[in-house]
Amino acid sequence: MSPMISISRSNFFCGLTIAFSLCFLYTLNYPNTTQSSSKNSPIDPYKKLHIILNPNATITRLIQTPHVPPSSHPNLPIPVLSKDVTINQSKNTWVRVFLPRNALNHTSSRRRLPLVVFFHGGGFILLSAATRIFHQFCVNMANDIEAVVVSVEYRLAPENRLPEAYDDAMEALHWIRISQQEEDWLARYADYSNCFLMGSSAGGNIAYHAGLRAAAEADHLLPLKIAGLILVQPFFGGVRMTASELRLLNDRALPLSVAYLMWNLSLPVGVDRDHEYCNPMAGNGPKQLDNIRQLGWQVLVTGCDGDPLVDRQIEVVRLMLEKDLQVVGSFDVGDYHGIQDREPLKAKQVYGVIKNFMSSMSA
Ligand SMILES: *[C@@H]1O[C@H](CO)[C@@H](O)[C@H](O)[C@H]1NC(C)=O
Ligand SMILES: *[C@@H]1O[C@H](CO)[C@@H](O)[C@H](O)[C@H]1NC(C)=O
Ligand SMILES: *[C@@H]1O[C@H](CO)[C@@H](O)[C@H](O)[C@H]1NC(C)=O
Ligand SMILES: *[C@@H]1O[C@H](CO)[C@@H](O)[C@H](O)[C@H]1NC(C)=O
Repeated sequence: MSPMISISRSNFFCGLTIAFSLCFLYTLNYPNTTQSSSKNSPIDPYKKLHIILNPNATITRLIQTPHVPPSSHPNLPIPVLSKDVTINQSKNTWVRVFLPRNALNHTSSRRRLPLVVFFHGGGFILLSAATRIFHQFCVNMANDIEAVVVSVEYRLAPENRLPEAYDDAMEALHWIRISQQEEDWLARYADYSNCFLMGSSAGGNIAYHAGLRAAAEADHLLPLKIAGLILVQPFFGGVRMTASELRLLNDRALPLSVAYLMWNLSLPVGVDRDHEYCNPMAGNGPKQLDNIRQLGWQVLVTGCDGDPLVDRQIEVVRLMLEKDLQVVGSFDVGDYHGIQDREPLKAKQVYGVIKNFMSSMSA
């Protein structure tokens, strides 16, 4: 696969999505009560996110987004089965495993499916693997790309600041490693030699950092072998404002004040946004990519120029190209941050890009 950055001009649908991109992910199922009065007045991030900061440094989440239970009964007329499995009770971490029903037919042929470990978005501070939009995203993805998907419930900030979400991600990978015999769906249907770490938004950041850690201890994860990273609109930041952040300062989907608050609540106390958890250009971050190159992993980064984060995402792709990693950047014109969680047709397009990426690897 040749490294490239493809900035593809999407079809007319893209124009429509901009017109309808009125509110952020979290307010998806609710009337938008936080319209900013004018284009230039700063958006109150607490109001936008419906959170209150408590004196004891926790937050109260005023909106409970709808959760859905998994559905694993093989007689249900659904294309993808799912179930929840505990990882660590003391931290309340668990995974939701998604299995395409068709896989049940493959037992005799022993055809195994790729394994995608997924981390949901929500700025490190909100939402869950059980949130309806992420459940649905994983169901449709498992069905479209024909993979076993493991969606990780990690601990949220500010109650648990970074790197705790990364720790939970690694604990989940080790749980998957030792579950090869114990967990029947993984044991029977997942191809442990063809695993991808994937996430959207803050989940893309977690997939990136879990990837750096996993690459540094690849031998300890065997028989689990990671083949690549899939970063959908990954959430990165930094102290210096990028041109796209400036251009989309008061963006409806992800205003900069909201992004800054998310970093403030999730980064370790006392560091700024030029910490390597936030800014992949900072500190020892770039050096750590060497392990990924040596292991021959492939990386897909997707995004769009309607997302204030797009310049940082392209910057990461450029860094990876400079470091000689095998990376594909796929960026659309227009759209907005979180669009794949809101619009099933857009999600389907993302699954198509992922499917191409995965099949170009095995070719
Ligand atoms: C922190 O404060 C909130 C709101 O007052 C309260 O609900 C919560 O139990 C407190 N948490 C801890 C760990 O003290
Ligand atoms: C669960 O998490 C706790 C707290 O981090 C840790 O001490 C313990 O070893 C973990 N349990 C397992 C089974 O990994
Ligand atoms: C797969 O199995 C289901 C029953 O579990 C059966 O109805 C269906 O026809 C099978 N599909 C194929 C392609 O064999
Ligand atoms: C968060 O903001 C507060 C108040 O501005 C500041 O004191 C603190 O250092 C910031 N913390 C981080 C991690 O950015």
